[in-house]
Amino acid sequence: MIDVAPLFRPYKLRGLALANRIVMAPMTRARSPGGFPNDDNVAYYARRAAGEVGLILSEGTLTRRRGAGNDAGIPLFCGERPLAGWQRVIDAVHAAGGKMGPQLWHQGMRRDPGTGHFPDAPSDGPSGLDLHGERVADEPSESEVLDMAQAYADAAGDAKRLGFDCIELHGAHGYLIDEFFWERTNRRTDRFGGSIERRAEFAAECIRRCRLAVGELPILIRISQWKATDYTAKVATTPHELERWVGVLAKAGVDAIHCSQRRILEPEFPSVDGPRGLNLAGWVKKLSGLPTISVGSVGLTSEFLGAFRGEGSSVGKLDETIERLDRGEFDLVAVGRALLQDPEWSLKVKAGRHNELRDYDAKALQTYF
Ligand SMILES: Cc1cc2nc3c(=O)[nH]c(=O)nc-3n(C[C@H](O)[C@H](O)[C@H](O)COP(=O)(O)O)c2cc1C
Repeated sequence: MIDVAPLFRPYKLRGLALANRIVMAPMTRARSPGGFPNDDNVAYYARRAAGEVGLILSEGTLTRRRGAGNDAGIPLFCGERPLAGWQRVIDAVHAAGGKMGPQLWHQGMRRDPGTGHFPDAPSDGPSGLDLHGERVADEPSESEVLDMAQAYADAAGDAKRLGFDCIELHGAHGYLIDEFFWERTNRRTDRFGGSIERRAEFAAECIRRCRLAVGELPILIRISQWKATDYTAKVATTPHELERWVGVLAKAGVDAIHCSQRRILEPEFPSVDGPRGLNLAGWVKKLSGLPTISVGSVGLTSEFLGAFRGEGSSVGKLDETIERLDRGEFDLVAVGRALLQDPEWSLKVKAGRHNELRDYDAKALQTYF
């Protein structure tokens, strides 16, 4: 029998008191026709709060930049009707005893032209390059870049006004902020391009502007080495580069870094500390001194990209994840598909009801439960 107690220790993130270490990972569902959270979306999040998830991160929700998204079913985080919907979400989550932040999302050049809520709008990126590094548009001016940053801050200010508990910037997986991080998509020669520190400057600008908008509310940023178009991509190839990258984010005032991996137990730099070495969240915590969230196949046997091919996944072991959390390698553990499948996952783990944990069935993507 494994000791799950470390998962259920309270945690304080800046001023935010969390009841346990379990975070619901942000998961796009594109099930908000018209771009506003509806009754089903409200109930979906309230169920996870009632199921004692310590912190819920919303599905990626789009900033006011018109070219931010590729699907008109993705909820917006701007405008009267979407914000009224989000107000209902956070009120329902709070009524069920939960804490929640929106994940603010701009897809950058991963959006196909002609898609989303505003099909006529151009897509935004650092240098007008697609994710293969091919030129598909002109490089935006500095003032356009600053407006992209301000769009996150405007959403962050709205999140605070609605009563959300934190915000997360989506800086991972090859979307806009990550396109600034990545050498292949960022060829700028102004202060937003060049060295790794300069490629992190757009994220720093977003963080500083968000801070002005949210005051004391915790600001999280999600980062990844991998891109949805290239699983072997790396922004930082050595611990030293990683230190320089996350150092810029720390200096800009971010409160925690959410390190996206597909498999939580995968070492980030095995040539440095061996095959059972620190994962990305472990290295980021060690090098930045900031709290980190780790993620990837928690409680399941296979990684999440199979979900988009209609694949399920069996219940997997939690032992080593909990041991690493207990050792302080990272501070919080995000859970994706297991919570999509089962809003009571956290309650079942806490009560030792392991035989009631369910395999992930890809049909969970199509349901609201
Ligand atoms: C259906 C689905 C939608 C996702 N959407 C997002 C998203 O909007 N933003 C994001 O940062 N990650 C997204 N992810 C990645 C998850 O947040 C998480 O990192 C991934 O599923 C690994 O966790 P898991 O193995 O516990 O599912 C998504 C994953 C799934 C399965």
